[in-house]
Amino acid sequence: MGLQSTRHQSTRKRSDRHAQKPLPSETFRRARPTEQLMSHSSPYPAASEEPPTPILRLRTCLIRSLCEGDAESTAAQANNPRIAKWMRNAFPHPYRVEDAFKWISIATSTSPIHNYAICRPDDNTAIGGIGLKPQDDTRYRTIQIGYWLGEEYWGRGIATEALSAFSEWTFEHFKHVIRLEAEVYEGNDSSTRVLEKAGYAFEARHRKAVEKKGQIMDLSLYCRFRDGY
Ligand SMILES: CC(C)(COP(=O)(O)OP(=O)(O)OC[C@H]1O[C@@H](n2cnc3c(N)ncnc32)[C@H](O)[C@@H]1OP(=O)(O)O)[C@@H](O)C(=O)NCCC(=O)NCCS
Repeated sequence: MGLQSTRHQSTRKRSDRHAQKPLPSETFRRARPTEQLMSHSSPYPAASEEPPTPILRLRTCLIRSLCEGDAESTAAQANNPRIAKWMRNAFPHPYRVEDAFKWISIATSTSPIHNYAICRPDDNTAIGGIGLKPQDDTRYRTIQIGYWLGEEYWGRGIATEALSAFSEWTFEHFKHVIRLEAEVYEGNDSSTRVLEKAGYAFEARHRKAVEKKGQIMDLSLYCRFRDGY
């Protein structure tokens, strides 16, 4: 009980800190159409369209569909072993611009869209991703949720706000879904904290369930239910 109140108190202080922390600007570049970023010999189509309208406008970020203009910023943020370490192997490392184009093509070809970009609120630059993996057959009322954020943006409360709002959005837009679940690899304490702050509860630990780069790890399952379930 004492521990819990201390935790709440310190969380509040940390949230204040998040609110004051400015977004990094020195490394930041305004999003530009892909055609300006790619050389003339680029094998990829030019993308001159405006970014899609956000599905969520939050204090720390926007969440919207991906577009080809996101390839360069997505690759720049995603090309980081400290991110890839906690993701499935489908998230490549190194993460090149061509990987981003492939991902954008996959993510924008489903109907409805399940995978979105987390973007800066000031200029819509893609700085991370958040997405859904619907389960099928008898598990169709469950959706798995996953997310990542560029390292220069960590520790500002962005993932917590994005995950909380996107979870609510998912329940609102996928009426059949009653259960959201997330898988976390052993040692990923910041993601565990994000899940707890976003209303997810620890459910199970699958022992030695994953191997990443030769390292066998436990997998923890966190879940959040639709109100009333
Ligand atoms: C996990 C991730 C999305 C978190 O993003 P973020 O925007 O920095 O998260 P937030 O700022 O909202 O919250 C992070 C919390 O973790 C805490 N934290 C950070 N490092 C920690 C550590 N080593 N141990 C415990 N808590 C830690 C922070 O203090 C913060 O909690 P607080 O607000 O109570 O202080 C980001 O680190 C990331 O992309 N990691 C790599 C990919 C990944 O792990 N994806 C999830 C796969 S399940």
